[in-house]
Amino acid sequence: MNRILSLETIQKVGQEVLLQGWVGARRDHGKIMFLDLRDRSGLVQLVSTKDKGDARPEDVIEVIGLVKERPASMVNPKIPTGTVEVEVKELKIVSKARELPFPIDTDGLEINEEVRLKYRYLDMRRPRMNRNIRLRSKMTMFIRNYLNALDFVEIETPILTKTTPEGARDFIVPSRLQKGKFYALPQSPQQYKQLLMVAGFERYFQIARCFRDEDPRHDRAYGEFTQLDMEMSFITQNDIITLAEDLFTKLVAELFPEKHISQSPWPRIPHGEAKAKYGTDKPDLRRDKKDPNELAFSWTVDFPLFTEQSQEDFYHGSGKAKFAPSHHMFTSPHPDDIGLLETNPLKVRGLQHDLVLNGYEVGGGSIRIHQKEVQEKVFDLIGFTEAQKAQFNHMLTAFTYGVPPHGGIAPGIDRFLMAILGEPSVREVMAYPANASGQISVMDAPSEASAEQLLELGISVRPKKV
Ligand code: AMO
Repeated sequence: MNRILSLETIQKVGQEVLLQGWVGARRDHGKIMFLDLRDRSGLVQLVSTKDKGDARPEDVIEVIGLVKERPASMVNPKIPTGTVEVEVKELKIVSKARELPFPIDTDGLEINEEVRLKYRYLDMRRPRMNRNIRLRSKMTMFIRNYLNALDFVEIETPILTKTTPEGARDFIVPSRLQKGKFYALPQSPQQYKQLLMVAGFERYFQIARCFRDEDPRHDRAYGEFTQLDMEMSFITQNDIITLAEDLFTKLVAELFPEKHISQSPWPRIPHGEAKAKYGTDKPDLRRDKKDPNELAFSWTVDFPLFTEQSQEDFYHGSGKAKFAPSHHMFTSPHPDDIGLLETNPLKVRGLQHDLVLNGYEVGGGSIRIHQKEVQEKVFDLIGFTEAQKAQFNHMLTAFTYGVPPHGGIAPGIDRFLMAILGEPSVREVMAYPANASGQISVMDAPSEASAEQLLELGISVRPKKV
């Protein structure tokens, strides 16, 4: 007999079926016991007797049983299989479950997060986490289909790469073949995507993993997170904004039909105005902050290209630059302000656009610099030494071979989903997030390397100072 899913039982009344899954709740009524059988499609009620097998919650079982219509008084309107139940003929316990370290029938937010992360495979059995991870998959699938229909090409860029400054510390990985050298994990695919525009793809996207060594916050994952990274050629800032707005409006309608967007088109607010009016460049524009289904999107535009900041703060370097990029060093100055680069850099506006949702910055992007001289000028203004400039020679060289004007955006998948679902942290929408000490608790990463591995890499580890 072939296995069917619990949801399919509603079409099998009067038939004998084979079901496999986990035992959910168990309700004993003397000799008779009711068990919920849970599988990927949901759950169905089993009616069994103890002599068939003493199945306990979270055991994995296999059942052959007869699907029966429930009497009208017993119908459970809360579940899709509420009109039927399965009378167990044979029950096999495939794998016993010990008592779980925590309940999984609650939302889980009351449980110590470290324990949840250590047993993440159990934590993800809880319906809320299960829904979040499934929605995440639906979201990336929707994005892929949408962009594919618009001629975008999905391209993977290297993970073992070179520093890609986005303002955080890099993770570095030692090279065995070139001892003493290190790869850096990408903070974003920024430079690669711009080079893909030079390559002529015109429309690129990637569901891209980004790595940043920065302190975690509730809306910022430690270590790694995911962006929908996009780049287009021959476009204006308005084109990027319009496309992102259409994509996410349709995505919300399809995947989150219970949500409503408070204002359309989404307001575009100049940075100075946002600061003056709301005291922040990511205002929460919801009309009713108590409404869990309201989504207030907006764009923040006309950022200053530079902030007054030491280079130590921005790049952890040793230079003494007066200016740091407010977004990143590849963002184009506003064409009307190019002259000010020489005279008053702090007055130059950048063609940056931040996407804001309910008070969170859920995406950032810009029109890029595509002129070698402008890029060099920006490098000078942010105080790059010749050695630092040399790190970006590939960009300057590429710009000498015919580069289309280009720009893009990168909404953060984790933060976007957190904001839409009103979850208290990005970790609630990630399968295996790191904890605050940067540890992936379920695997106990990071761990020490063996003496052989270190020798092969030419690395010696200094003993910890106590
Ligand atoms: P930026 O650094 O602004 O831009 O990042 C874009 C978006 O990525 C998300 N994000 C994060 N999400 C979770 N945890 C983090 N630690 C984290 N850091 C960033 C946010 C943010 O808005 N290369 C540019 C994009 C571009 O110019 O096209 C970039 O990375 O949602």
